Amino acid sequence: MISSSISNKILQWYDNNKRDLPWRKPKSSQQSQYFTLVSEIMLQQTQVKTVVPYFTKFTEELPNFTKLSNVSEKKLYKLWEGLGYYSRASNLRKTANIIVDKYNKKLPNNLKELKELPGIGDYTSRAILSLEFNKKVIPLDGNIERLLKRVLLLKKPNEISKTYLMKKVDFFGYSHRQRDYVQSLMELGALVC
Ligand code: ADE
Repeated sequence: MISSSISNKILQWYDNNKRDLPWRKPKSSQQSQYFTLVSEIMLQQTQVKTVVPYFTKFTEELPNFTKLSNVSEKKLYKLWEGLGYYSRASNLRKTANIIVDKYNKKLPNNLKELKELPGIGDYTSRAILSLEFNKKVIPLDGNIERLLKRVLLLKKPNEISKTYLMKKVDFFGYSHRQRDYVQSLMELGALVC
């Protein structure tokens, strides 16, 4: 596992170099939960630069879980038009319904309940736990995967399987600023690797 002085250096690099992304600027904790959910669903199969304008428009039109849970199918698909993988949009609305009806407009903060939500699998649950709840978890997205392979010089087929990489990812260690630490690893993978 890397030392805390290295993870602190990575955080420092992030503080100085992070991109100005709209989901990183919530105005309240309620909005932060909503932004995290919407951005993670949009980012599941789509690149950051494509997602940015969609995320901005979507959250302007539907600023919270309640508005999203009440939106018509027509408007929902209009806002998603061009992003692809439309089942993400309908699952996102179903999830918003559950968040409003069952969880008092707040995301659950544990793996079991998150994974029960429509469209939220293991990866997205881990992303939400770390990015929203600051839990000591690292979601293995494409960026962190690239970084891990590069740092550990992993090339052989058995070394680059998802299962193997998932076991190796705690190489990066954890931080009391886990939310920022995960973003910093994604950012390093995206901007440097
Ligand atoms: N890919 C998946 N989630 C991301 C995030 N929050 N920021 C940048 N890239 C991502």
